[in-house]
Amino acid sequence: MTEQLKGRETVAIIGAGSVGSTLAQRIVERDLANVVLLDTIEGRPQGVALDLMEARAIEQHDRTVIGTQNYADIAGADIVVITAGRPRTPDMTRDELLGVNAQIVASVTREAIAQAPNATFIAVTNPLDVMTYLIWKVSGLPRQQVMGMAGVLDAARFATFVAMELQASAADVTAMVLGGHGDLMVPIPRYTTVRGIPLPQLLPAEKIAQLLERTRDGGAEIGRLLKTGSAYYAPSSSVAQMVEAILRDRHRTLPAAIPLQGEYGIDDLCMGIPVRLGRNGVEAIVKLDLTDEESKALHSSAESVRAQVQRLPDLGLF
Ligand code: APR
Repeated sequence: MTEQLKGRETVAIIGAGSVGSTLAQRIVERDLANVVLLDTIEGRPQGVALDLMEARAIEQHDRTVIGTQNYADIAGADIVVITAGRPRTPDMTRDELLGVNAQIVASVTREAIAQAPNATFIAVTNPLDVMTYLIWKVSGLPRQQVMGMAGVLDAARFATFVAMELQASAADVTAMVLGGHGDLMVPIPRYTTVRGIPLPQLLPAEKIAQLLERTRDGGAEIGRLLKTGSAYYAPSSSVAQMVEAILRDRHRTLPAAIPLQGEYGIDDLCMGIPVRLGRNGVEAIVKLDLTDEESKALHSSAESVRAQVQRLPDLGLF
């Protein structure tokens, strides 16, 4: 670890693209940790780091950001966030994306774990649930230290649409979303509340279904508007919330994709479940009482994730 980073908590962000650089900004400006940004593109992480450092005098914090191509610079990091990957282009199938990003995420994980063997790893690269599983397998870490950011984002999107519909504050909405990321998510409206009032008491079922549809399509809706690139403000906010829960030992209950070993009847798979996050990573897995219908939806989401995960052994990555 370089001299500049010594003595303070460090988050390593692998991939200094849109999500990685926005996340770096959120972490230092919230005074959560120092940041090392690593990217294969020469100059990119160094440029982002210098830009963020130049904002320090105005933003009034004294956190350090460094940019690098060298894994030795992330040595001893407390958290490693993996955003490295290729975006899905229109000519690419989901399967092709999986193959490309699996190669990248496996190699990045191998390099990172060698330098930061005690870190907690957070996956951001898509397809999220599969990449989380891959990081777990390749790193050999205990499952408490491996998680994927998806549930916080899906729940935030759902909460936003609920708040917009009810003209309520998004801060008062707590959304419960389980299962795989994006179109595989399994929202649970009766555990979604506005200041404790369950959503089905506030909106008719058809309206809730429309909001859920928009949430499932959340990433794609933004992609269509942006034309090039994909969402990064809400994704980076979501990772920052997880980082804060861990570094500040806040024991927050948040949905995250984690390796399941029999919980909810699902084994050897990563998927979104509410967990309690603190300094040691996943401190507890929250068990919800699900109806038969909800449980069926969760298992069908799990089967879709499993179909993707089953492609991994053929790639020979672990
Ligand atoms: N090592 C390090 N960095 C890499 C590697 C690698 N092997 N391969 C690619 N990268 C870097 C790219 O150079 C790029 O800067 O990862 C970065 C990805 O950034 P963007 O393309 O801007 O993607 P972003 O919008 O940040 O999304 C990152 O999060 O939400 C998901 O689907 C999204 O998988 C994507 C990820």
